[in-house]
Amino acid sequence: MRLALLWLLVPLAVAQLPFNIFNIPETIRTPLVETYFDVMKLDTQCFRDIKKSFNQMLLAFLTAQKCKTIDCLMDEKVTNATYAMKMLAATGHPHSLDWDELSLTWAGDPKLCRNIDGPFETKYCFLHVTIDWTKIDFESFGFSLSFLPGGKIPDFDIGDANIDRCSTMSVNNVKLALCLPASCEKDPNIGRIISEATNGTAKICEISCVGPKKEPSAFFYFFNVAFTSLIAIAVGSSILDYIATRNGMDVELKGRTTWKVITAFSIPRNTSDLFSIRQRSDSIACLDAIRFITFTWVVNGHCDLFVGDGDNPIQLFRESDYIISDVLLNAYVSVDTFFLVSGLLVSYTFFKRVHTNPDCVYKPMNWIILTPAYLLFIAFYVAWTPQMHDIWAVGTAMNNTLFVQNCENYWWLNALYLNNFHAIQDLCYPPSWFLCVDTQLYWAAPLFLIAIYYSCKNNIRNQRRKTGLGAVLSGVLFSVGATVFLTAYYDLPAIGFTAKTTGNMDFMTQLYIKPWIRCIPYLTGIICGYFIVQVRKQTVKVRQPKMWELTLVWLFSTIVALTVIFSVYDYMRGESDWSVATRSFYGSFARIGWALAIAWVVLACTFNWAGPVKSLLEHPLWYPLGRLSYCAFLAHWFTLQLLLHGSDRPAHFVSLFQTYLTVTIPVVFMSYVMAWMWSCLVEIPFSKLEVIGVDLIIHRRRGHRDTNIVHAARSELNIEGKRPTDGAGITTIEVDNHH
Ligand SMILES: *[C@@H]1O[C@H](CO)[C@@H](O)[C@H](O)[C@H]1NC(C)=O
Ligand SMILES: *[C@@H]1O[C@H](CO)[C@@H](O)[C@H](O)[C@H]1NC(C)=O
Repeated sequence: MRLALLWLLVPLAVAQLPFNIFNIPETIRTPLVETYFDVMKLDTQCFRDIKKSFNQMLLAFLTAQKCKTIDCLMDEKVTNATYAMKMLAATGHPHSLDWDELSLTWAGDPKLCRNIDGPFETKYCFLHVTIDWTKIDFESFGFSLSFLPGGKIPDFDIGDANIDRCSTMSVNNVKLALCLPASCEKDPNIGRIISEATNGTAKICEISCVGPKKEPSAFFYFFNVAFTSLIAIAVGSSILDYIATRNGMDVELKGRTTWKVITAFSIPRNTSDLFSIRQRSDSIACLDAIRFITFTWVVNGHCDLFVGDGDNPIQLFRESDYIISDVLLNAYVSVDTFFLVSGLLVSYTFFKRVHTNPDCVYKPMNWIILTPAYLLFIAFYVAWTPQMHDIWAVGTAMNNTLFVQNCENYWWLNALYLNNFHAIQDLCYPPSWFLCVDTQLYWAAPLFLIAIYYSCKNNIRNQRRKTGLGAVLSGVLFSVGATVFLTAYYDLPAIGFTAKTTGNMDFMTQLYIKPWIRCIPYLTGIICGYFIVQVRKQTVKVRQPKMWELTLVWLFSTIVALTVIFSVYDYMRGESDWSVATRSFYGSFARIGWALAIAWVVLACTFNWAGPVKSLLEHPLWYPLGRLSYCAFLAHWFTLQLLLHGSDRPAHFVSLFQTYLTVTIPVVFMSYVMAWMWSCLVEIPFSKLEVIGVDLIIHRRRGHRDTNIVHAARSELNIEGKRPTDGAGITTIEVDNHH
């Protein structure tokens, strides 16, 4: 009863409106009145429902006004309007009235809306409204935007009419929660009325309501059946494997192809492969640690992005006032570390092999092996994301509908590893751009590898020696040139997150996801890999450096790395504007500096110049974590979504530290659980099947004679077909050759 009275207060305020309408300035009153009559004329189900609830509320108010006793409030006219008052009370409101908490996302009360027992079904929805802020004269309303970080609404100057703002991740859309009649979700009149009433300043992108986006498609059922079958196969295979091993039959079965195919899916086998802490003696041991640390860094960047897009986005910008925050906010170079590791492994494997078997060619094996895991994950994402359309999902600027739609339209571009040539908002499963660029660089790598190989083959002729270095240097120069040109041409910021330019999708599209911008660390990695092979094969002698030399290089690379991260401090928080020259200088040279600094860490660890850093980074604990990092990377965007999906309100940003503890750490953990599943069920089985297939084909062709080739093909895949207990290197399966 008391609650019912509270709800009465809201219509009370609304009901004052007609009496005060003449106090409202003419410019606002006219469209308001016009809108009112417009609404009254409409006769769709949605508007009939709205009018009905409004009339009942008004009647309740007029009745309640005359009441002298509490019993009078039990009148049907009042109680019948309870549902309407609940609808109104469930409407979104700012989570705080403090200016510092200024928010464009107003959440309401989803639970109240859910429990309404009215004459029609109600739904908790978010109205996503894109507003052309350039058309609003804040000064005339007495507002000053100077209190905002960067002195403006982020993303403000992209008020370009040519951009369809609805299909981008617009952080400056207004997101207002409403408890609406279910019939309104699809009613286009709401959008039309708002657009007309505001003279086109505001436009509705979407009315996004809680509940599955659409009926599960045939694909959803197909995927689930297929995936369940895969699990069933894995469980069956594990049981068979267990029984055979227990009865000592596995020795006898070992050589048979059918048995190999069956056990390829065995979960215990694959798990022990994955979690083995054995490392091949000739691998580069510190890379797993570097991969894992980089992975957590990347994940944290995405966590901040998702959580910052909540009901108090300004707070994320305020964090940039603390210089230490740059470590987390300026995570743009993190991915470059991945590229360095990739390039390094590709060239390391290549030169090692060339050394032992000069006829061996470069084969795109690893890429083929990783593709099933990747594509199956995309299928999983497409099947399940539309089903996860709950309270968090309806209010976020991350347009998952769009990303899934992109997958449906362009999944084949993903399969061909070409989707990064699209704009960022056309990506299917956003983090997939990384896999694309990585693969593209892998395709381009032979160019440089062969150039280096031939230039170093005949050491006697000095001119020839230069082609390899020349190829790499021209690659770097080309990349620098491209960065400078694109930055100047599109007037791009130096980094993606700054108080003034956030939301500038051009930066992402033109620079961030393009291979010609990203090739610098990859090329650095190639040189490093070559160098390591030469030193290990003792074709190049390196003398033990003196202590002061090592100290100097360590100091220098630390300073470079720190400069890359912290030099953007004033630029990021909007205190200083950088000229095109500065921006493009940072854009290209930060990448070079970072690549060199990380390359030094790898070299120092490998050649034992790193002291305690070496023992830390080469600890066996990192091996499984590094090995799983490919699948974990694949999964992290989805698990982040899953975590937030469990919430009953929009994300809320408190601080970077709090986000790290409450979001990043669980997401890293969940990603690894998922990565384990994916590796066990898809990645390892398919790579084993691939080996078996190659074996079979070669056997058939050569009639069992040329066992050398079988051997070469196997070592190509780094799989020796032994159990890890045999001390074999199965654990370095292909993952090694990707990040
Ligand atoms: C209140 O609702 C009941 C049940 O829906 C209906 O029978 C009754 O006529 C309504 N009363 C008024 C005054 O609208
Ligand atoms: C999300 O994308 C879809 C498909 O392009 C679009 O119709 C919708 O308006 C977008 N939603 C938002 C909130 O921008």
